[in-house]
Amino acid sequence: MNAPAEIYKVLASQAHEVMGYREFTLGSFNFRRDEYFAHITWKTRDGRPMSHTMDAGNFLRALMRDVAWGFFYGWVNFDNVLGTVNHYQSVDLFAGSYNGTMKAAGIDLLENFPSDQIRTTFEKMLDDWTNAGFDPFAAPQETGSAYGRKNGSNTAKITRARELATRCVGLKDDLVLRSDARSAPINRAFADVDQSQPELHPEPGFENEVHGFNLFGFLSRSQVTWNPSFTSVVKYSFMCPTTEEHILPIIHGNDRVEWFFQMTDEIHWDCGDKNTGKPMARVIMKAGDMAAMPAYCRHQGYSPKRSMLLVWENGSPTLVHEIQKGDAPEIPVQF
Ligand code: PHB
Ligand code: FE
Repeated sequence: MNAPAEIYKVLASQAHEVMGYREFTLGSFNFRRDEYFAHITWKTRDGRPMSHTMDAGNFLRALMRDVAWGFFYGWVNFDNVLGTVNHYQSVDLFAGSYNGTMKAAGIDLLENFPSDQIRTTFEKMLDDWTNAGFDPFAAPQETGSAYGRKNGSNTAKITRARELATRCVGLKDDLVLRSDARSAPINRAFADVDQSQPELHPEPGFENEVHGFNLFGFLSRSQVTWNPSFTSVVKYSFMCPTTEEHILPIIHGNDRVEWFFQMTDEIHWDCGDKNTGKPMARVIMKAGDMAAMPAYCRHQGYSPKRSMLLVWENGSPTLVHEIQKGDAPEIPVQF
């Protein structure tokens, strides 16, 4: 009498082995991948089995950002169902908890993990599920496919380390000058970016103290997309210039105000309510435009051509608590 179920189980496990990918668990969440999809399963708050399916490429692009950014500020939504919330020592993993419909239906789940535990599992999953030739940081036109049965790995591309400048970028003994960032090829979309360096006329004796460099030239050689790397850190003011192409692989819900300065080309943003996902605004940013994202929204950008964006973050570790207590505003300015 149990035969059909038994056969199904055997077939399912064989099919799974053929794909060759490892399965992962975090608390009550289970993650497995096949040729096209990541499958996430959990038990709802009232004990029913639930599942969610994501395109494998989109899942890996989102997972790459979450891992590389140490869970970022606030919410990293992989899509409108799955995501993480950073509490800076621990991380919530959730499915449906910030989706108004799923939350109302009671089919969501949120569990909290020490940051180290979730990071380790996510790093292993990213490494096991990323095939040779697929670079989750690259623009879709500049990488191979994420799909198919397990085929090697691409560890070098998923463990890129941030390059830290010890002095102003370009000054003698600066790490960035010695790195190959300067000799990396200019991206096809930035062939027209002027590569000349600024003229410098420091007073004698100050040649090793004064410097400037061509930021656009530097960014034109970026190998990755949607990855804000610190260029300047002045107290808690973090200026993070980045190069963007195609879709921001996550929907970011910040726990603070954040500013965007569109330095070239354009990005179209979808903004929604942070808690429910309900659409709130479309923001079309063209070269020279600035916008601020209030702390109550989630946002996802679409860059039709590779563009340069400066993300300005307030990195104060106390800000999130000040906003929660109502001591700091959720909006950038009161008119
Ligand atoms: C954002 O979530 O605000 C964000 C993330 C990565 C980027 C740009 C913007 O490259
Ligand atoms: Fe953001």
